[in-house]
Amino acid sequence: MNASLSFNTLNAAAEKFGTPLYVYHAEKIEQQYQHLCAQFEPTQTKFFYACKALTNIHILKVIKDMGCNIDCSSINEVQLALHVGFLPNNILYTSNSVGFDEISTAVELGVNVNIDSLSNLEKFGQAFGGTKAIGVRIRPDVMAGGNLKISTGHVKSKFGIPLTQLDALKLIQEKYKINIHTLHIHTGSEIKDVAVFMKSAAVFDTLLPHFPTVNVLDFGGGFKVPYAPGEQGTDMAQLGAEVKKVMKQLSEKFGRQFIAWFEPGKYMVSEAGFFIAKVNVLKTSGEISFAGLNTGLNHLIRPMFYDAYHHIDNMTSPNNPSKQYAVVGNICETDTFAWDRAIPEIAEGDLLVFYNAGAYGYEMASNYNARFKPAQVLYQQDTAKLISRADQFEDLLSLQVPL
Ligand code: LLP
Repeated sequence: MNASLSFNTLNAAAEKFGTPLYVYHAEKIEQQYQHLCAQFEPTQTKFFYACKALTNIHILKVIKDMGCNIDCSSINEVQLALHVGFLPNNILYTSNSVGFDEISTAVELGVNVNIDSLSNLEKFGQAFGGTKAIGVRIRPDVMAGGNLKISTGHVKSKFGIPLTQLDALKLIQEKYKINIHTLHIHTGSEIKDVAVFMKSAAVFDTLLPHFPTVNVLDFGGGFKVPYAPGEQGTDMAQLGAEVKKVMKQLSEKFGRQFIAWFEPGKYMVSEAGFFIAKVNVLKTSGEISFAGLNTGLNHLIRPMFYDAYHHIDNMTSPNNPSKQYAVVGNICETDTFAWDRAIPEIAEGDLLVFYNAGAYGYEMASNYNARFKPAQVLYQQDTAKLISRADQFEDLLSLQVPL
């Protein structure tokens, strides 16, 4: 969490654009990226923003303009990246369980592709043989990540080609003379411990003798960012130092130069986002004080889906003495943002702000209960600009066949 935008700025945005409202801070995104790059200098390490965290094209333009690459998880994200002007070579498509048509489209568009199943690798071999270089996603059997739902490297995970299938992978590669240039491992999201990335490096070490054409080692994303006050994120200086060291060792050991790739999502945009909602209703029940908002799990599902902590402040009356609240939504579900949270005393009509709303906030929003999705605003060079409007009633009907 961070407060890179002041309450004055956020209140002004809420006044101008209404609530609920997502506000993003362009300069904070740039600051994150610059800090990341600095840790890996002077190497050729490449960063691909995992855009599943937030795909608004104005955000993607900020990412492109600062020279960052982009990682996509669907062919539509690839098309959005191309729409924004990313060059195909700066786009990575890390697919999972997709139909081969998406992979062949991506390959034909000239973007980098990581394949995560033997089935699609075989189809790739049949279609392209050795004509196009490709990456393979390996499941390293490493348990890591903030919780099970965002852990992707363990033995029961659907992601990647299991290490136990190495022989089968090699048979397919040899049969079609596939040119594998990248080994990819992504173990999960919210990984604080740098040792987890070193475990990926150790897996690369065991695999590299089998892949003489590989020159890229893709460590995926998953850097932890602080969500709660006082919480620490991944130590990026330590990560940079250890990855540089292991990459040098691997390059010396195998007598070829390897480049590291990363796919950060949360790290890039989480702290740059603020979600503002209004308190509709205060209600007490015994000891509990409920603050009922003009939003719910339809707009920010992370607290309900992952038990994720999002820091909440009262930006109308930040200096009030604090009181314990259950902060709840207006959806016909138990959509509790926080069960027992100290917040400066709230009056109906006050505006609350949720921190760390940049990643997987709006992006996971829905129209559940036929409610509107909120507007999004980008704050850049001291100016707030609307980057997507809130839904209107017509939007709810727009895809439905008229009666
Ligand atoms: N690369 C791959 C292959 C991934 O699967 C992911 C995330 C990333 C990169 C980016 O991970 P990040 O740096 O953002 O942690 N909706 C969940 C997170 C799901 C992450 C899915 N994959 C949440 O809100 O916590």
